Amino acid sequence: MSKLSGASLPGMTGGGFYNLHSTLQDAAIRKVLPLWRDALKDVAIAGRFVTIADYGSSEGRNSMAPISAAIEIVRARAGAQIPVSVIHTDLPGNDFSTLFRTLIESDDSYQKKGAEIYASAIGRSYFEQILPANSVDIAWNSWTLQWMSQNPVEDPDFLFGPNSPHEWVREAVTQQQEKDWRAFLSLRSIELAPGGRMLCLFGSKGDSTLGWEWIPEVLWNVVQDMWRQGLLSDEEKLRINLPLGPRDLDAIRQPFDQEGVFSGLRLLRAEILQSPDPYWPAFQKTQNASQFGENWKNFMKAVFAPVVRTQLDPSGDTSARVDEMFERFAAEVAVSPRETQHYVGLAIVEKIDSAGSGDNRQGPDLRAF
Ligand SMILES: C[S@@+](CC[C@H](N)C(=O)[O-])C[C@H]1O[C@@H](n2cnc3c(N)ncnc32)[C@H](O)[C@@H]1O
Repeated sequence: MSKLSGASLPGMTGGGFYNLHSTLQDAAIRKVLPLWRDALKDVAIAGRFVTIADYGSSEGRNSMAPISAAIEIVRARAGAQIPVSVIHTDLPGNDFSTLFRTLIESDDSYQKKGAEIYASAIGRSYFEQILPANSVDIAWNSWTLQWMSQNPVEDPDFLFGPNSPHEWVREAVTQQQEKDWRAFLSLRSIELAPGGRMLCLFGSKGDSTLGWEWIPEVLWNVVQDMWRQGLLSDEEKLRINLPLGPRDLDAIRQPFDQEGVFSGLRLLRAEILQSPDPYWPAFQKTQNASQFGENWKNFMKAVFAPVVRTQLDPSGDTSARVDEMFERFAAEVAVSPRETQHYVGLAIVEKIDSAGSGDNRQGPDLRAF
């Protein structure tokens, strides 16, 4: 078992499972759509066609509304016939087949919004340059940047670095997220066309609370129980963790200078927003605790089952143990249902016009990262 790094992260649970169980992510996206529409009202549209990149698409369900909105806005300005190229990117292990089926089958597919809309995909980590310099007019990026490019440490006493009992773990997560944010921005600065804009939405935290205290704690209790019962080894218990970290407002702004500029990108907007827990209103209505546990289990499995599977010893029955872990998690959640108050960070950036003039193919010096 090797330490996880960006390229070896397995992505989300495939086969349509992420699409079905990503309502929580969708709820935050719905909340920021008005800001996205607003940002696109005067985005530069210079070429004979428009290129929209979707960085970290997973199976595509949650990309349909923002990409549809972008197409509608640019076509209202540049003419209904302007061709649009939409490039979805994700890790190589992503279920791109489901993405392409979603584009054909979903009633919400942006491809049903008109002719001359061309979808394609790239299976490669965005911690590399993955598109030609100056080629992206509009970029959407939701719910990916809470994932770190690599797991900086292994925490012996918890599975979610941001609320580890150890200062050195929390610090390592903060530092990794700082580095990753700079690297991501610098690379996108190469790819964006002058005047192009990008919205990033990712897991964040509140002023006095992380927001994700309860749910990781329930999962950690399950891991410990399974370890005590001999279902997980010492090494597996050490390795199991969720390689994520939130970014607060200071962290979002940190790379940008006094003028709000970093690596040829200008920060147009930075905000932390409280995000809905879609499972709680349903529980309040029905009082069905086991359904509440199932909903949280499916969300957690959709996002974390593949990564946990890679952290287990492959010689054992990994799938059965991962299933067991999440069944126990559902049962625990159902014992005392609670609302989760969580937060998202939002950053909207624009590539400064002058940064795109001349030959920018070399991009910034990434040795700093
Ligand atoms: C929670 S899903 C978000 C999917 C979708 N954008 C949404 O809003 O529902 C996170 C996605 O980010 C992708 N991801 C994580 N790290 C990445 C990287 N280094 N390069 C490309 N994609 C990455 C994962 O594979 C996964 O599909």
